[in-house]
Amino acid sequence: MNLAVELAPRRKQGLPLRNPVMTASGTFSNGLEAAKVFDIQRLGAIVSKGTTLRPRAGNPQMRIAETPSGMLNTIGLQNVGVEALIRDVAPIWATWQTPVIVNIAGETVEEFGELAARLDGVPGVSGLELNISCPNVAVGGMLFGQDPEQAAAVTKTVLRKTTLPVIVKLTPNVTDIVAVARAVVEAGADALCLINTVQGMAIDVRTRRPVLSTVFGGLSGPAIKPIALRMVYQVASAVDVPVVGCGGIRTGEDAIEFIMAGATAVEVGTATFADPLAPLHVLEGIERFLEQAGVDDISELVGAARTKDD
Ligand SMILES: Cc1cc2nc3c(=O)[nH]c(=O)nc-3n(C[C@H](O)[C@H](O)[C@H](O)COP(=O)(O)O)c2cc1C
Repeated sequence: MNLAVELAPRRKQGLPLRNPVMTASGTFSNGLEAAKVFDIQRLGAIVSKGTTLRPRAGNPQMRIAETPSGMLNTIGLQNVGVEALIRDVAPIWATWQTPVIVNIAGETVEEFGELAARLDGVPGVSGLELNISCPNVAVGGMLFGQDPEQAAAVTKTVLRKTTLPVIVKLTPNVTDIVAVARAVVEAGADALCLINTVQGMAIDVRTRRPVLSTVFGGLSGPAIKPIALRMVYQVASAVDVPVVGCGGIRTGEDAIEFIMAGATAVEVGTATFADPLAPLHVLEGIERFLEQAGVDDISELVGAARTKDD
């Protein structure tokens, strides 16, 4: 059966994946630990931890809380910084067959541009994923991804600084995700990924205080799957670039739901914390589903659940 997908069809080189299963940023570190546990080369692509210009220690504890069917996190983009990533990690990625996409986050449009420039042409880096779910300090901390204009500005700046394919990762914490999706596609995004975490909180009734040190955090896991699926369905119907579905995917059938909603590929995140082999199990589940359904090319299922009017 053919599981291969293309994430940057507008480009000459493209961003071909041998199958549609990717890892979600921040839940797979930079792939080095997982590579010791299973054959990560079987995956479609690895997405790195969110990377910033300078190293970051992240937020103080508590920064994780378990919730029914999910978890809240406020890691605060703890990472080694782009310089160490290029020096110490990318040379290992360059020995892998599986493409690695670097997830980047900036506090200003210019920082995104500089990150893109630094990563351009680095062996081992096959693409960029822009985390626009972070605050733009230049406009009072509003998330880039909450404003179509800011989101488009980041996308345009990055595209000017890199020859790599660019995936823009959208935040669900908006009223109209389609407006943001349209703006970044118009700005030249090769593909979109959605969704990032949904803002939430938890309170410890014994201490009468919020559980997380930053009060609010990002909800992920199966609890957000219906939201993610709805947004993928809406966005895939509105844009003509590949959409990567993400949010609560745990099984092959979860992934197939996203593909039927219009996703070309999927990312597996929180599920990895309960089962480090979850991305592989999702891939095996997809293979089983196709076999049982008598489908020999995954592309036949993309958008299968959409009606003509959508
Ligand atoms: C602990 C943790 C850290 C994350 N770090 C990042 C990050 O650095 N950059 C990013 O774009 N998304 C980050 N995410 C969001 C995930 O990549 C994903 O979009 C989200 O968790 C929804 O998918 P899931 O339900 O499969 O986890 C993080 C999520 C978790 C749970």
